[in-house]
Amino acid sequence: MMSRLVRFGVSMEEELLARFDALIRELGYANRSEALRDLVRERLVQKEWREGEEVVGVIILLYDHRKRELSDELVELQHHHHHLVIATLHVHLDEANCLEILAVRGPGTELQRLAENLRSLKGVKHGQLAATSTGKRLP
Ligand code: NI
Repeated sequence: MMSRLVRFGVSMEEELLARFDALIRELGYANRSEALRDLVRERLVQKEWREGEEVVGVIILLYDHRKRELSDELVELQHHHHHLVIATLHVHLDEANCLEILAVRGPGTELQRLAENLRSLKGVKHGQLAATSTGKRLP
């Protein structure tokens, strides 16, 4: 269901607004309203994650599969959290390096902990968590 659009006025320092306009022009926004809506959604998504609501994210891991036991530990950890990991993509980058991309869904706090646990395994060179929303509570 589409929400009704409401117009409202915003007061802002001239200098701050000039910086905002320059920024959103650079980012390619068509107008202030669309840029402002995205800013608001960004903060709402952050709030969903902080408060442990069901959210969606992507964990990316770069690791050397030749490190002893690492591949086993990664699989073990993902199976242990099978309720959080909804899909995985594995790319053999070269002889040594693997890129693994996990789509995850669950309470934000648990997803953050899982990302930390995976990232801290010995042999994982880089790991990152990208956070988004299920979209259910995001107009
Ligand atoms: Ni691989």
